[in-house]
Amino acid sequence: MDYVIYILIAYLLGAIPSGLIVGKVGYGIDIREHGSGNLGGTNTFRVLGVKAGLLVTSADILKGTIATALPFFMGADVITLIIGIFAVLGHMYPVFAGFKGGKAVATSGGVILGINPIIFVIILATFFLVLYISKYVSLSSMITGTVAVVVSILFQDYGLSILITLLTIFVIYRHLANIKRIINKTEPKITWM
Ligand code: G3P
Repeated sequence: MDYVIYILIAYLLGAIPSGLIVGKVGYGIDIREHGSGNLGGTNTFRVLGVKAGLLVTSADILKGTIATALPFFMGADVITLIIGIFAVLGHMYPVFAGFKGGKAVATSGGVILGINPIIFVIILATFFLVLYISKYVSLSSMITGTVAVVVSILFQDYGLSILITLLTIFVIYRHLANIKRIINKTEPKITWM
């Protein structure tokens, strides 16, 4: 029964719609009606600027990281994987925002940060390297997820590999529209790097 409660807490934590809160409270704007329409850090940067973008991205990462701390209270490691999945599901399909949430990137990063900070640093560097070369946040997110699977296997952290594989499937699934735009050359590129 305890497990169910912790999984529910992880989902509800992930479901906190930081992009919606910052947009509405700080700027009177629902970012889902602007830019790419995504309730995530990238679209917040795009629509509301650097300050709001950093705030939302940090909050979305933090949701995942805090969720991974929950199993410590239960003394069970294996549940961390399920907790991570449910935190990211909450971020993608938030009950507090009509189930229209983000694309799983920042909160997945936060989950990895909570479980293995060294892998997080490696994939963060990967993300910015691919971003520097491609200028596409979406492409960088998907490639970083794939690299993260390989890195976790190299670290022989196979439980984490299973979790990251699932999270990367979520990330790619949520980026199908971006993939179409990349192919059609209509996906926006970043201009600040
Ligand atoms: O974090 C999501 C990012 O990879 C893409 O976001 O708004 O460009 O679709 P967006």
